Amino acid sequence: MIIVVIGVAGSGKSTVGLLLARALGCEYLEGDELHSAASIRKMSRGIPLTDADRVPWLEAIHARLLEAFRSGRTLVAACSALKERYRAVLARGVPVTWVSLQGSPDLVLARLRARTGHFMSAAMLDGQLAAWEPPQGAIVADVSRPPDEIVERVLAELPWEPRVHVADDLEALSLRAAGAIARAIDGVVRATGRCSLALSGGSTPGPLYRLLATRFRDAVPWAEVHVFWTDERWVPPDDPRSNQRMAREALLDHVPCPAGNVHPMPTHFADPGRAAREYEATLAGWFAGARPRFDLAILGLGADGHTASLFPGSAAVREEARGVLAVTGPADPPRRLTLTLPVLARSARSHFLVAGAGKAPEVRRVLSGAADPEVFPAARIHRAPGEVVWWIDREAADAAASPGTHPLEERCRSD
Ligand code: 6PG
Repeated sequence: MIIVVIGVAGSGKSTVGLLLARALGCEYLEGDELHSAASIRKMSRGIPLTDADRVPWLEAIHARLLEAFRSGRTLVAACSALKERYRAVLARGVPVTWVSLQGSPDLVLARLRARTGHFMSAAMLDGQLAAWEPPQGAIVADVSRPPDEIVERVLAELPWEPRVHVADDLEALSLRAAGAIARAIDGVVRATGRCSLALSGGSTPGPLYRLLATRFRDAVPWAEVHVFWTDERWVPPDDPRSNQRMAREALLDHVPCPAGNVHPMPTHFADPGRAAREYEATLAGWFAGARPRFDLAILGLGADGHTASLFPGSAAVREEARGVLAVTGPADPPRRLTLTLPVLARSARSHFLVAGAGKAPEVRRVLSGAADPEVFPAARIHRAPGEVVWWIDREAADAAASPGTHPLEERCRSD
């Protein structure tokens, strides 16, 4: 996705653009940095640019947008792009999503007056406001709101389209998913310097983890990858059912990911509730007190519709305040720790891996958009802001095409 944040000087393009790029774990392009030295000198003296000055600048930004689009990367850029014809240059051959920062000229003027060390002076604002042609079809944000709030709103309004890939079998699907996930991790590290990765357990991701540890080992900058878990079974780390053990044996023991970058869910406390609080503290520390947003989460789907350890119809699915919960579910072992939906639905990228005909009814429900997110946790993640990718084998996909209703959802609807 190519996103360009536009607006007059002082509207907060750079602040919002940078925060948006951070949230998406993608590259940020500061349009002002591509002005020629001569243009910067001109503007610093309070002389507005002519269109002849602007053309090479807009072309330089366009070249960067086009390159990112052609290589399939997400990029956020900030550029005033006040007029329709400037935007036409930027959008030549690139499907740009515009984010337009709009609001009271007085507020913008006050911000410009408070800003130091920038070539745009407050005196030039009038000219910019006169030139401004409000864009059609843009996501419009109110500049008087705090930047974090603007970013959350923009994230929710971006035109997300979940992608579904069907492969012949688990082996083929793991291979395709491993390649895509390795590229995604590498892209996040190049753009932001590090990547937070949340792993699930279960049997389906085993082949994927082994491929990331072998064929794709050198495609991932492991030293910058920080590993977390979406959920953990309430067993010691050496128990064969432990998600940590599974991920270590299949992946982490074979890649140069520093031990300090690995953050397992703790299961050594007497009380799972205390362990859930501890993991919340771990997340709060890593995300510097902000609400956690993983760059990439790998998720599964149980035949009963659970994802992470959020079981359909359980109270944990409706949890909004807590980030990590201790839960009991109809599984072995029944006691587990799990991230909650407010955390999982914020991930910049969610990759679901699902294989086997037994999971087809759940896949069908979630992908059709008919599943009640209060019941099926995956449905909320499927519709959440962020990139959602499904890797499904032919069995799950073919059977998913045939109709059927999940008895639990029926029951919940008629309750
Ligand atoms: C767990 C998992 C869980 C898993 C699904 C699918 O600990 O059980 O994290 O959410 O993704 O149960 O598991 P399978 O891949 O084994 O079917």
